[in-house]
Amino acid sequence: MADGAAVQQERLDALLDERRTFPPSEEFRRQANAADHAIYQRAAADPEAFWADEAARIDWFKPWDKVLEWNFPWAKWFVGGKLNVTYNCVDRHAAGPRRNKAAIIWEGEPGDSRVLTFGMLQREVNRFANALKSLGVRKGDRVAVYMGMVPELPIALLACAKIGAPHSVVFGGFSAESLRERINDAQAKVLITCDGAWRRGHVVHLKHNADEALHGTPSIEKVIVVHRVGERAEAAMHEGRDLWWHHLVEHASDKCEAEPMDAEDILYLLYTSGTTGKPKGIVHTTGGYLVGTAATHRYIFDVKENDVYWCTADIGWVTGHSYIVYGPLANGTTSLMYEGSPDYPDRGRFWQIAHKYGVNILYTAPTAIRTFMRWGTEWPAKYDLSSLRLLGTVGEPINPEAWIWYNQHIGRERCPIVDTWWQTETGMCMITPLPGLTATKPGSATRPFPGIDAEVLDEKGERVGPGAGGYLVLNKPWPAMFRTIYGDPERYVRQYWSRYPGRYFAGDGAKVDDDGYFWLLGRVDDVMNVSGHRISTYEVESALVDHPSVAEAAVIGKTHDVKGQAISAFVTLKEGTPATDHLKEELKQHVAHKIGALARPDDIFFSAELPKTRSAKIMRRLLRDIAEGRVLGDTTTLADPAVVASLRQQYEAKE
Ligand code: WTA
Repeated sequence: MADGAAVQQERLDALLDERRTFPPSEEFRRQANAADHAIYQRAAADPEAFWADEAARIDWFKPWDKVLEWNFPWAKWFVGGKLNVTYNCVDRHAAGPRRNKAAIIWEGEPGDSRVLTFGMLQREVNRFANALKSLGVRKGDRVAVYMGMVPELPIALLACAKIGAPHSVVFGGFSAESLRERINDAQAKVLITCDGAWRRGHVVHLKHNADEALHGTPSIEKVIVVHRVGERAEAAMHEGRDLWWHHLVEHASDKCEAEPMDAEDILYLLYTSGTTGKPKGIVHTTGGYLVGTAATHRYIFDVKENDVYWCTADIGWVTGHSYIVYGPLANGTTSLMYEGSPDYPDRGRFWQIAHKYGVNILYTAPTAIRTFMRWGTEWPAKYDLSSLRLLGTVGEPINPEAWIWYNQHIGRERCPIVDTWWQTETGMCMITPLPGLTATKPGSATRPFPGIDAEVLDEKGERVGPGAGGYLVLNKPWPAMFRTIYGDPERYVRQYWSRYPGRYFAGDGAKVDDDGYFWLLGRVDDVMNVSGHRISTYEVESALVDHPSVAEAAVIGKTHDVKGQAISAFVTLKEGTPATDHLKEELKQHVAHKIGALARPDDIFFSAELPKTRSAKIMRRLLRDIAEGRVLGDTTTLADPAVVASLRQQYEAKE
């Protein structure tokens, strides 16, 4: 953890002088969904009663017998309750006054757009649910999804949930090999993909990657392909295995009964990086997840009946699952989804979309905000953004400068900002302002959501005093928490619940200030956060040593102005392999091919040896000092100090 500690200290120092506070306006407070501080006391006094009240907003086929059964570290929420997520997200709205209200507004890349009302969404979901059934997909069967941001993606998820088939979405930026690994771990029966996806006017060959992945996935019986890019797709359809989405739904009925699911039945799996090379299948279940995402969405984003709400995440990540699809739709909200990039056709694209649809609530990532800052204020200044009334961020710590810029240039000093801390594992926002109640401080995620019990502990498990850094833990179960790691319950216990007995270990550093506000300091383990994406150093190291020229590799996340962290790799080549620039490029490409472009290293340094302690541990702290061009820290424990000197020279030569 030594490496993480150094990063934490840097952020702690940087935040030391941050004293600005931004109370919500009286006008905002008066209309807020959470307008009374008593919500915190009420939830703290009886969290189960608080969550039961929230659960009452969901339609249950059979009410629960017990709110929580907590058999550390195994949780069951709403025990005995029966419900269906899609019924709650779609059917109940389609049956009432929201029938003709926009559920999903989709803005496509090359000038396309589409609006699905709750009624239309219901018919599309039902047709596709029937298509899945016709292929033999039954309750409990896993369905893998590898798609771009097209309307068929949420339709596919909702169709799976309707028939009780857990989905496992793999972000479209992942490689064939990453997809194969996830399909095999989940033993998925069907894969849903697209012929291709649009990215800045170019085609991403999803189907081609999927075909490559499908060598060696014996569980897959059928592949359903959405027609998106047409002739420009590179892949052929495989007779007997591949089916076009539009053919399948053509004659499918648009009526489909929702499968009554147990509150604890699996809703989905979502793979995320841990400290080893093997991604973890995070398991989310039905009742608690829906209650948790709907309640947090309602209070944190303060959604109102006629709001247009836009979360800019990709549905391939948990943010898209919880806050593009399930939370908003459970609340009957109009949720906007965008297929493309923020800079295509130009750098004003987000603001043009916000204006076009009159977006009221915008939820994005600090890395995007820092990119907008770099592009300059002239882009947002061109657009009337007066419809915006609330802004949110997620994915990584936000630096106060980016917060202030977001507040000034996007929120025009009228919009509260909610900086929400959470994880794939938590399923829902955990530490966050409530926009009508919390006086925000730039860079702080502020306070635990009502009913959430968070703390910062030192190595020994003692609570740390105000201002000091430590490890973030959660002391009580919460409804949207993950229930296990798919197929690996032992890892679930070891990784999350063993560091501090009785508590959830988040893997993040944090401090609490004198006002009880939480300041997140970044990961304390070997997980990097690159543009808000979680990547383990170990995964990238494994991809590098997989290359025939590489003997050994060490990877670190170095601080980066826009991405938060960028990947630097230190590589020892096999005897006799010349260290060329060409090989550096090849290695970067190799990592992108093995994992996905998101894991491509920014820098590669060659070294005859890696700096190690006498007990052969790689000294990552020194690698970071080198990558960030700093004075080297303590080198006295190094086995061979000359190693560092040579690396240092390479770094300086690069400058
Ligand atoms: C980081 C994304 C600081 C954190 C929802 C966490 C944050 C990891 C914040 C989870 C925030 C997320 N402030 N750090 N507001 N939000 N993180 O699983 O390190 O992709 O552990 O879930 O992102 O990333 P994940």
